[in-house]
Amino acid sequence: MIRYIAVEGIDGAGKSMVVGAIAGYLEERGIEVLTVREPGGTIAGEAIREILLDRADPLAGWTEALLFAAARAQLAALVVAPALGAGKTVVSDRCVYSSLAYQGAGRGLGMEAVRAVNEAGLQGVWPEKVLLLRVAAEKGLARERIADRISREGLELQQRVAAAYDALAAAEPDRFVVVDASRPIPDVVAAAVAAVGAMT
Ligand code: TYD
Repeated sequence: MIRYIAVEGIDGAGKSMVVGAIAGYLEERGIEVLTVREPGGTIAGEAIREILLDRADPLAGWTEALLFAAARAQLAALVVAPALGAGKTVVSDRCVYSSLAYQGAGRGLGMEAVRAVNEAGLQGVWPEKVLLLRVAAEKGLARERIADRISREGLELQQRVAAAYDALAAAEPDRFVVVDASRPIPDVVAAAVAAVGAMT
């Protein structure tokens, strides 16, 4: 039984709707679910989120990558690992693969270097399955309503991120399930729930 599922994709792919629907689907089946979002989910993590997303002052690339990794390490140690230990299923809106795609590829820091700092922080707390909501960057950005510091950067970053997600999914075919997120959101949600149904 899969216990730690993350939902990934570029901005505007429909992740938050999918996370809610998956959690509801699992709860209906009597499974105890904890949903989390990255960055955030702890007091320190929410403060880091504010620095990363809500402010206009520039951040150096590695500052950004290390802050995402720090928020994630805090969430893993204080929230995700205890929940898994208590027998809950964790459904996460984004995970370490966001950092590989956005900071590693999008910002050009290198996916392996970004993976290494995250591995140090996570101590093995790693999603078993990743649902990748796949949509073209243009379409994702058009759907996105509230732009944050990173999605405001525009199309080219999102295109690099989308290509990186495809490469990550191809490199780890057992971990990734790719969902076509170019369809209307209700169809995307239905496909994602069906994918989770097939894996649990
Ligand atoms: P999120 O809250 O998921 O925003 P949205 O719902 O608009 O997708 O994520 C906020 C932004 O943070 C998003 O642009 C992706 C970015 N991000 C990274 O660059 N690296 C990371 O490791 C994470 C978790 C998010």
